Amino acid sequence: MGRLSRFPLCFLLFAAPSIALAQQQPSDEQIEHRVNEILGRMSIDEKAGQLTQAAGNSPETLEKVRQGKIGSLLGVLGAKNANDAQRVAVEDSRLKIPLILGFDVIHGFRTVFPVPLASAGSFDLKLIEQAEQVAAKEATSAGVKWTFAPMVDIGRDPRWGRIVEGAGEDPYLGSQVAAAKVKGFQGRNMADPDRVIACAKHYVAYGATEGGRDYNTVDISEKLLREMYLPPFRAAVDAGVGTLMSAFNDLNGVPATANRHTLTEILRDEWKFQGFVVSDYDSVHELIPHGIAGDDSEAALEALTAGVDMDMADGDYAKYIPQLVQSGRLQSSIVDEAVRRVLRVKLQAGLFEHPYADLGREKTDLLTRESRQVARKLAQESLVLLENKGQVLPIGKDKTVAVIGPLADDKASQLGPWAGNGQAKDAVTPLEGIIGRLNKDRVFYAKGVDIPPYESGLAAGVAAPAPSTATGVRGVETSKRPANIEDAVKAATKADIVLLFVGELAGMTGEASSRSSFDLPGDQMKLVDRLLAIQKPIVMVIESGRPLDIRWAPERIPAIIQTWYLGIEAGNAIADVLFGDVSPSGRLALSWPRSVGEIPTYYNHNNTGRPSSPDRWHTGYLDQTSEPLFPFGYGLTYTSFHYSNLRIESPIVSHDGTLQVSADVENTGDREGTEVVQLYVHDRVAPTSRPVRELKGFERLTLRPGEHKTAAFKVLANDLGSYDSQLKWIVPAGTYDVWIAADSRSGVHGTFEVR
Ligand code: GLC
Repeated sequence: MGRLSRFPLCFLLFAAPSIALAQQQPSDEQIEHRVNEILGRMSIDEKAGQLTQAAGNSPETLEKVRQGKIGSLLGVLGAKNANDAQRVAVEDSRLKIPLILGFDVIHGFRTVFPVPLASAGSFDLKLIEQAEQVAAKEATSAGVKWTFAPMVDIGRDPRWGRIVEGAGEDPYLGSQVAAAKVKGFQGRNMADPDRVIACAKHYVAYGATEGGRDYNTVDISEKLLREMYLPPFRAAVDAGVGTLMSAFNDLNGVPATANRHTLTEILRDEWKFQGFVVSDYDSVHELIPHGIAGDDSEAALEALTAGVDMDMADGDYAKYIPQLVQSGRLQSSIVDEAVRRVLRVKLQAGLFEHPYADLGREKTDLLTRESRQVARKLAQESLVLLENKGQVLPIGKDKTVAVIGPLADDKASQLGPWAGNGQAKDAVTPLEGIIGRLNKDRVFYAKGVDIPPYESGLAAGVAAPAPSTATGVRGVETSKRPANIEDAVKAATKADIVLLFVGELAGMTGEASSRSSFDLPGDQMKLVDRLLAIQKPIVMVIESGRPLDIRWAPERIPAIIQTWYLGIEAGNAIADVLFGDVSPSGRLALSWPRSVGEIPTYYNHNNTGRPSSPDRWHTGYLDQTSEPLFPFGYGLTYTSFHYSNLRIESPIVSHDGTLQVSADVENTGDREGTEVVQLYVHDRVAPTSRPVRELKGFERLTLRPGEHKTAAFKVLANDLGSYDSQLKWIVPAGTYDVWIAADSRSGVHGTFEVR
């Protein structure tokens, strides 16, 4: 996996400035030599220790570090705390092997970016990479050298709370985003002091959990596993990701944390992955309730021999590997190979040369103006304009607005779940963003209703809302009474336009946050109905971790924006778009269902023998259409675009050739705008049924009014292929459809042949 060995000599001759950098990174051979030299001096307890990650830095934990029984810590934050723990390993332990200090930097460390489901919708890979680079710089300033990200699980079921943590439903978009995030975190050299080791998770198919219930059973075909859920992990491995994390779920009867087929046969034998695999939290121990291990010793044996190299949190490896080896139940060579993988990554990450964080960096590298600018830009590009009837948006700054709703001023929820080391106080709420744009006597605020957390959420310590008005928002007319709908009606009555902020508390999404319905929680619909009755134009802004049931809205509310959770710059980015300083360009990274009853719904479905049709005897429902409310790839801007003149370079593409296709895109509106142009294909006839559309390319095009550009795409014919029923990858000859489109349901169409 060494970086240097991948660069041809010519690169080194002409990359003078980097030669010094290249010399800082040892060659593969030098690393292997050091790995074996260290390994040769390790006791079995020390080997088991290198394969053990503990949570926190308690005195008991640090004593085990001193004894060489722990090789990694998670959740130790702050350069001083990190260095104190590292010093125990590097100076007090016998072999002085440095720790890897890990943390969940999922969408930012202290500068919290939009949640991954939102930023994937920007389709802006460069900006996504830049955001992760900022995250890595901030995390390393606080002593973190390993992030448990990117989360690359494909999600097709929004009942699952963790769909917010990934890049949505499409394997092509998911793969592109996975690679961009690995590059942003690791850079060209993860030994650089401001880069971290990345961790693609949760390996694998965690998002296919039955019923959308977190941690639940997954049972899918090998074909679907390989075509839908594995590609983003393969993309992360090909991008050089240092580690993977095994998932909680059982997969086709074998828990992912003990699944030799995925962990060794695919990851090692097929993909030649050189890094190491860490289990998810306690998931080694959980092989017991999974029913494939009778006790923790057996669980450790099953997980390690299947291919999980490091054990997170439950301590089973440290406790049982020595006795398993001594009893002859576990070959020491398997232990040695796992230790080599961990040592290799530690050496490639420069931990032996630079084990300590620079104590001064936290003062300069956290929450900088530049990092906030990146957060604001990514937030602007991530929100999705779903409706804008009568061009209600953008709002003139001469208007008076009523800012209403339980999420308009909830600082904690702007950050979303898994907010790293983010602080609610850093977040700009929509109310604050709007006040920053309008003269304050033009803003009337009322919360309207509270959103009661779910009982189980309270048990799980869900983050309670943290409003800024508690600190007194400057001069805005606001009621001191508890949230009530009458105040909201009064505020709305006084204003030209109602800006209604509804959705889910951040604590209702993320891990252990599956929901059985997509309703607006609490009494939000009562608030909506009362506001609709006063006949004022309403802009509804939804903050949520999943698509909510708003099938009632398009007919009754002229303008609708989905923000997901946009991070610390949420309020400024939302105001930028509401008042037209920025034109929205975000798209949906997943299909938006009309109701929970149609789950799973996704754009890349098979045609079936009776494709969806108004005619009864076709796939669908008696009581509603099976078409999503909004399709994958959909999003409006403040202008309009026209697609024309699809051109295919050669109507016949050889199976080992390249498809070249282009179309003209014109801005037919009166404002500049950015269009996310998408390329879809469909294999009409193959040995297995193929999805009606598959995303194979995208490009962001910014056009001035009247301007037109050509969007051109190249796709290797091999990438149009699929697995046949024998799981052989093939590129079937025959006719293919191709679209260049604004979303997964529209576009200019053509056909080509593969021969
Ligand atoms: C959690 C999550 C995983 C996270 C890990 C460490 O349970 O499943 O995504 O990285 O534990 O916090």
